[in-house]
Amino acid sequence: MQFKKIIPFVVFGSLLFYCKNTEISIIQPKIIPIPSTETVSNGQFVLNNSTGISYDNGFKVSARFLKSFIEDGSSISLQENNRISFIKDSTINNLEGYKLIISPNKIEIKANSDQGAFYAVQSLRQLLPPEFENGSYAKNEVSLPCVSIEDEPRFKYRGMHLDVGRHMFPVDFIKKYIDAIAMLKMNTFHWHLTEDQGWRIEIKKYPKLQEVAAYRNETLIGHYSDQPQHYDSKRYGGYYTQEEIKDVVAYAQQKFVTIIPEIEMPGHSQAAIAAYPELGCTGNQVEVAKTWGVFDEIYCTKDETFEFLQNVLDEVMELFPSTFIHIGGDEAPKTNWKTCKVCQKRIKDEGLIDEHQLQSYFISRIEKYLNSKGRQIIGWDEILEGGLAPNATVMSWRGTQGAIEAAKQHHNVVMTPGSHCYFDYYQSESDDEPLAIGGFLPLEKVYSFNPIPDELTQEESKYILGAQANVWTEYMPDSKQVEYMVFPRIFAMSELDWSKPENKNYENFIRRVENFLPRLKALDINFANHLYEIEGNLISENHQLSYILKTLTNDKIIRYTLDGSEPNLASNVYTNPIPIIQSSTIKARVFDEEKPLGKTFEQKINYHKAVGKQITLNVQPSEAYSGSGPNGLINGISGSNKRYGDKEWLGFSGEDLEITIDLGQETEIHSIKTRFHNGKGQWIYAPKSISFHLDNDISYNQQLTDSDDLILNVDLNIDSKTRYIKINVPNYGIIP
Ligand code: ACM
Ligand code: ZN
Repeated sequence: MQFKKIIPFVVFGSLLFYCKNTEISIIQPKIIPIPSTETVSNGQFVLNNSTGISYDNGFKVSARFLKSFIEDGSSISLQENNRISFIKDSTINNLEGYKLIISPNKIEIKANSDQGAFYAVQSLRQLLPPEFENGSYAKNEVSLPCVSIEDEPRFKYRGMHLDVGRHMFPVDFIKKYIDAIAMLKMNTFHWHLTEDQGWRIEIKKYPKLQEVAAYRNETLIGHYSDQPQHYDSKRYGGYYTQEEIKDVVAYAQQKFVTIIPEIEMPGHSQAAIAAYPELGCTGNQVEVAKTWGVFDEIYCTKDETFEFLQNVLDEVMELFPSTFIHIGGDEAPKTNWKTCKVCQKRIKDEGLIDEHQLQSYFISRIEKYLNSKGRQIIGWDEILEGGLAPNATVMSWRGTQGAIEAAKQHHNVVMTPGSHCYFDYYQSESDDEPLAIGGFLPLEKVYSFNPIPDELTQEESKYILGAQANVWTEYMPDSKQVEYMVFPRIFAMSELDWSKPENKNYENFIRRVENFLPRLKALDINFANHLYEIEGNLISENHQLSYILKTLTNDKIIRYTLDGSEPNLASNVYTNPIPIIQSSTIKARVFDEEKPLGKTFEQKINYHKAVGKQITLNVQPSEAYSGSGPNGLINGISGSNKRYGDKEWLGFSGEDLEITIDLGQETEIHSIKTRFHNGKGQWIYAPKSISFHLDNDISYNQQLTDSDDLILNVDLNIDSKTRYIKINVPNYGIIP
C-alpha cells in the first residue's frame, strides 16, 4: 500500500494540473474545506509589485484582508490597478458563495456579499505559500496556478465552541481562534462564558460575579478519576471585561464570525451561586467549584432569579449582536428543586407535572424575555425534556436523538454529538498523549460525520442548520493545549460543514492536511500530528498469524525491525503483512526518502499457546467496550496499561462471563496469565474472583484482592495437559 503511485485522470476535487514550460506539474491538492468545483487551466498568474487590487465599498473587508495578507506576508507592494478585482455578482444565490477565477493576466473574485468574497480570499490565501502567514516570504513575486473555483457552503451554521469556564485563555488567543475559524470558512464562535468553576464575563450590575464567581481557590490535579484526588492550592481565575468583549466582537465581525455567548442556566451555575447564594435553592454559601463534573447547585425558580438573569442578559445583549443567545440547559440535576419549597410551589402554581416541566418553564420564561428583545434562544438538548420552548433551537450533544426529536417538532438544530464533535476526547491511542477527559475521537471519525441523521426525511433535514465541534477545557490548562486538541480535527469539521458530501474523500483530505502543516507552523499553531503514526493489526488466516502495518499517508515508507532495534534508513521496508511465528517485538516508523517522521511504533507480541486458537464467549462485551472482539483476549497483545479505550480491552456489564478456549488438540500447559483493568474512577471494576477449568474436571479458583491498582494480574502456575480451557469470571456485582 505504500508505493502506489496513481496519477488520476479523472480528477477528484482539488487535484490541480497546470502547464509550465511544457512539462505537466501536479500541484498538491490544497484547499480546506474542499470547494464545490475546481477547474484548472493552463498558465499562471504572477503576483508581484505591478499587481493591484480594485474593489468597491461593498467588498471593503475582504479586499482589505487580501491586501494586508499580501503586503504583510511578503515583500510585494501592491499598486492601484484592477489586476485583482472584486466583482459583485448577484447571480450567486448563496450569500456565502463565491467564484474565484485566476487567469494569466487577472484574478477575479465574484460574490454577492463581502462575506462570500472573504471566503474567496481564504481560498486564494491557501494557494499562496505558507510563508505569507507570518511575513517570511522574502521575495516580491509569486506564481499562482490558473484555476476557476465555484464554491458555496453546505450548511449555514459552521461552528466552533470554546469553554473558558474551566480554564481561561487570553484575548489574543480568542482572536487567534476566531482567525482559524474564519480561515476555514466557519462562521460561528460559541463562547461558553459561565461555568461552575468560573464566571468569565463582566456584568456591571453584579460586582460579586467579578470578585467571587470569577475565581476558584484551587484546581484538581490530574484526571478526575484518579484516586485519591489532589488539588494544586493555587487560586485560579479571571474574567473578560466588557471592553475586551466589545473588542473581540468587533474583531470577529471583521472575519464574518458571529459570536454566540452562552450563559448557563439553570445548572452549571455554582460560581454565580457562590457569589450570590440567594440565587440557589438552599441559600447555603457554596464555593466556586474546583473539581470537574456535574453539581447539584441550580438556580432557584424564585422571581428574584429571573430578575438577576434578565439583568445579566440585558448586559450580554448589549455586548453581543448575535440573534442567538445560548442559555445552556444541560446537566441540571433536579435534587435541590425537589426539596425546595419555592420550587415545589412554583410547580403547583403553574400546573406543572414535575421538575422536568419546571426546567421547561424556566427556559420558556427566559425565551420569552429574549424573544421580546428580538433574540432567539439556543440550548443543549436537555431543553427538550419537559417540553421545548416554542422557538428554541436545539444543540444536540447526547448523540443525535435530540436532533431527531427537535427536527420532527420543526425546531432548528445544531449538531454536536459527543461521538463525533467532542474535541476534548483523545485523538490517538498512543500512551503518551497528553491527559484528556477520555473517549476516542480520531480525525477520521470526525471526518466521517454526516450532520444529517438518517432518520430524518428531506423536509425534516432542513431544520439541521449545521454542525459544531465542542472544546471543553477541564484538561486544557493553556491555549497551546487547546490548539493541540483542535488541530487538525477542526479541518475535518470545516469540511463536513462546508463541502459537498460527494466531494469528501478521506485520503485526499489527509494529503491536504499534510500540505497544510507548514501553514500551521507559520501560524504558530500547536497541532497534533498523528499523520505519521502507525496502526498495527494482528491477523490470522489459515492458522497463520501475520501483522499488518498501516499509516495514513500513502506516499510514505514504513520501515521496521523485529529485534527490538530502532528502525533506520537501512531497516526493512514494509510491503506485506509480517509473518509472526514466535514472540516478537515489532518496531516500525514512517520515513520519507531521507528521514524518519513521527514516532516509533512498538508492539510486543507474546506468542503463547492460545494465540490463533478458537475462543468463544457466553455473552457479548458491552458495546462501548467491545474492542476488536473476543480474539483480542488471546492474540498475544496486551491492552494499554494506562487506558481502557484501546481495542485489546473488552468490558462486560451485568452477566457472568464464561470464556472457552479450544487449543485444537491436547496441549501441555505450564501457566495461565490474564489481567484485569480496574479503573474504578471510570466505573470499571476488576472481578472479585476467577476460576479456570481444564479437561478432566481439573479446576483452579483464585480470589482477587480488592485494590486501587489500575491493573490486576492473575498468574496461575500449573503443569497439565488439556485441549479446552474454560474461564469463569463472575460479575463484580453492583459497583459503589
Ligand atoms: C455538555 O457537554 N454538557 C453539553
Ligand atoms: Zn428553589
